[in-house]
Amino acid sequence: MDKKYILAFESSCDDTSVAVVDMDYNVYSNIISSQAKHKDFGGVVPEIASRLHLKNIVQITDIALTEANVSLEDISYIAVSVNPGLIGALLVGLSYAKGLAYSLGKPLVAVNHMLAHIYANKIEHPKLEPPFLALVVSGGHTEIVHFETANDIEIVGKTKDDASGEAFDKIAKLLDLGYPGGPIVDKLAKGGDKDFVKFPRALNRKGDFDFSYSGLKTSVRTYIEKQSDEFIKENLNHILASAQAAICDILIKKTVEYARLNKINQIIVAGGVSANSYLRENIIKKAKKFKIDVSIPALKYCTDNAAMVAAAAIKKIKEDDFAPLNLNAFSAKGTKFL
Ligand code: KG4
Ligand code: ZN
Repeated sequence: MDKKYILAFESSCDDTSVAVVDMDYNVYSNIISSQAKHKDFGGVVPEIASRLHLKNIVQITDIALTEANVSLEDISYIAVSVNPGLIGALLVGLSYAKGLAYSLGKPLVAVNHMLAHIYANKIEHPKLEPPFLALVVSGGHTEIVHFETANDIEIVGKTKDDASGEAFDKIAKLLDLGYPGGPIVDKLAKGGDKDFVKFPRALNRKGDFDFSYSGLKTSVRTYIEKQSDEFIKENLNHILASAQAAICDILIKKTVEYARLNKINQIIVAGGVSANSYLRENIIKKAKKFKIDVSIPALKYCTDNAAMVAAAAIKKIKEDDFAPLNLNAFSAKGTKFL
């Protein structure tokens, strides 16, 4: 049988990404163009994001096809993330995907961006199947999602205010470290003492699986305001290691606790914050104590990329679950089926 290739698009925030993936999760190309322009503003400017997606998407598609050594005629399915995200940014990917699906006469597959982060785990572990518990941690989301089956999911915990990625970004901003803050904090916290400052762990009580990060942000701000510039400079790695642990420890504790209480022996970590070295190391360590397996994508599949969109599309293709060409993008939050 001929190989069936999926051409996948991701444009929900500030990364334009196009990938070619087959139905067995083999990735032939996964081109990501991150929009550096937003660094000037310390955060993503939606209008600029849409314009840059528009400017880049045709070229990124050409590069993805060339690197995969396939032509548009070889493509069997077009996949695209349609929610959640910045609406103008999503519309660029969706409109281009719809145009290609129509002109090539190929089925369109619409994917939820958070499910795509979760399915990124299938790229290296195609046999991974529910039941599992997914910890979804990105710039806009912090959720614990219980997958009873692939079609029966429940969000059992979520943030009441900031997302964990947002907490990293805001703390980096408070210290003028640049954007996005997560990878910068991760790097600068290396070798730091995580017990240097006792930052708060909010909602830290048994049986509560929700999160809150606004108090942590305030606490970091108050702490910084009380110190001299020199002290902060000298102890930056310790301060950042302490803040990083405050963000991640509570993610780890609640996820492992829920898995234990509900006898789930597989945890999946997904979303940009799953690239964090402290989170990766410590969730594996903690889960191991209770004989719970942990799957985390390779770093290149943690942050936004189109290969994960294709990975989520495979399930829908197998179920003949295709989208009509009058489909619209929408920005409602959360991990959900469309
Ligand atoms: O999933 P993602 O690429 O985009 C969204 O869907 O939001 O996640 C982006 C978030 C940002 O907040 C970024 O700071 C965070 O992921 N992030 C990290 C790391 N790499 C990216 N946070 C902590 N440590 C990292 N190494
Ligand atoms: Zn994302």
